[in-house]
Amino acid sequence: MIRLNNVGVSFRKENQKKIFGKERQQILVDVSMHVKEKECLGILGESGSGKSTMGRVICGLLKPDCGKVEVEKPISIVFQDYTTSANPRFTVKQIISESLIVRERRESIRLDREKEIRKLLELVGLSEEFSLRYPHELSGGQLQRVCIARAVALQPKIILFDESISSLDAYTQVQIMDLLKEIRKKYGLTYVFITHDLSSVTYFCDRVLFLYQGQIVETCEIAELGKVKDEYAKKLLNSVVNLR
Ligand SMILES: Nc1ncnc2c1ncn2[C@@H]1O[C@H](COP(=O)(O)OP(=O)(O)O)[C@@H](O)[C@H]1O
Ligand SMILES: [Mg+2]
Repeated sequence: MIRLNNVGVSFRKENQKKIFGKERQQILVDVSMHVKEKECLGILGESGSGKSTMGRVICGLLKPDCGKVEVEKPISIVFQDYTTSANPRFTVKQIISESLIVRERRESIRLDREKEIRKLLELVGLSEEFSLRYPHELSGGQLQRVCIARAVALQPKIILFDESISSLDAYTQVQIMDLLKEIRKKYGLTYVFITHDLSSVTYFCDRVLFLYQGQIVETCEIAELGKVKDEYAKKLLNSVVNLR
């Protein structure tokens, strides 16, 4: 479904004395990975490790300096900061309509938007009355459900989540992950789930990549987390075990 081969990304270093300084900071180093059809792949790493950069490369929002990116199917994105990713002046109905309009153009069709919105709201567990609300009239979990409805409305085969649930409380996180599991099953979707939180990866994903300083240091099936060899991955795993 998705394949990256030897991808490298660098950015011009900030805080350079010369305005036109050419020093570059390597953000992703020789990243090769793949995502299998219908799997949920976790990308785990601490803040600044390059996860969002990798997500942007996967979605085609950022062109890497080198390497090859292949994505076979349409992809939707659910971002980290759902409060800014939804236009505050739009109602829920308008937010979801944006995706429906994209689909109408893409497929040269006319949709019964009212009906589609009703179905999508039901899918994400919101009643119809939510369709006229504005983002500030919703809880974090409800707004994230709207963002999920908007992503699903595009009828993608792949959805990439970048820290999509990280700012929700633990209970709401589990509710949203359960909802996402259901949606994945219903539509046979493939997920890429970017997070810094190991416990959500173990709850939600089939397989995980450990990203450390722009490099994939370990790849592992969730059922085989006990077998990781990389020191950094081990440290991460131990830190979570110790917290319990
Ligand atoms: N557009 C950009 N220009 C310069 N540096 C960037 C840019 N985007 C990200 N970075 C840097 O790349 C590194 C990795 O960032 P990011 O991919 O957002 O990490 P993560 O999502 O794992 O926290 C950080 O040091 C960040 O400052
Ligand atoms: Mg990030």
